[in-house]
Amino acid sequence: MPQRIRPGEVAIDLPATFDAGLYFIGRIHTPWARREDCPKNGADSDAVCTIEVDERYAAGLRDIESVSHLIVLYFMDEAPRDVMLQAPRHYRRPHGAFALRSPARPNPIACSIVRLVAVAERRLDVIGLDCRDGTPLIDIKPYFASIDAVPEATVGWHVDERDS
Ligand SMILES: C[S@@+](CC[C@H](N)C(=O)[O-])C[C@H]1O[C@@H](n2cnc3c(N)ncnc32)[C@H](O)[C@@H]1O
Repeated sequence: MPQRIRPGEVAIDLPATFDAGLYFIGRIHTPWARREDCPKNGADSDAVCTIEVDERYAAGLRDIESVSHLIVLYFMDEAPRDVMLQAPRHYRRPHGAFALRSPARPNPIACSIVRLVAVAERRLDVIGLDCRDGTPLIDIKPYFASIDAVPEATVGWHVDERDS
């Protein structure tokens, strides 16, 4: 078993080939040079981060300044992709990757709901991110409270598990 696996964790063999490709559409600039320095989740931070969209995709930003909150999808390029059962230090027992917001997953795609505070050409200043400086950007979508908010949502295992 590789050393990076903690007790109780399970890693799998990944397929030999990918099923699809994607385009990185820009980069995210944050105050955190290393992933260890990042907040656990975007909601834990008031830091202003800058999403820089590549020139090629700039036309896709039309009307974005009228949107108060965005869903940002980004690629956690330093995350392992094969650990299906994970034991984060701040939880008492292992949990499945798909029951966690961990960056470690077969497709290490992260998402955050951010507040848009300024737009300058291809640069969007936002609050609510949690990634290392230079993390690749995959997509941006408007957050619709009428569609996306689910106030009654729960995560059962999390309620009495969190140590910190
Ligand atoms: C728990 S994840 C949550 C990500 C996102 N908000 C989500 O829910 O999908 C955030 C953590 O990912 C780690 N991280 C940040 N940037 C990363 C990167 N480029 N590659 C791998 N891990 C990263 C940091 O440890 C950070 O605290």
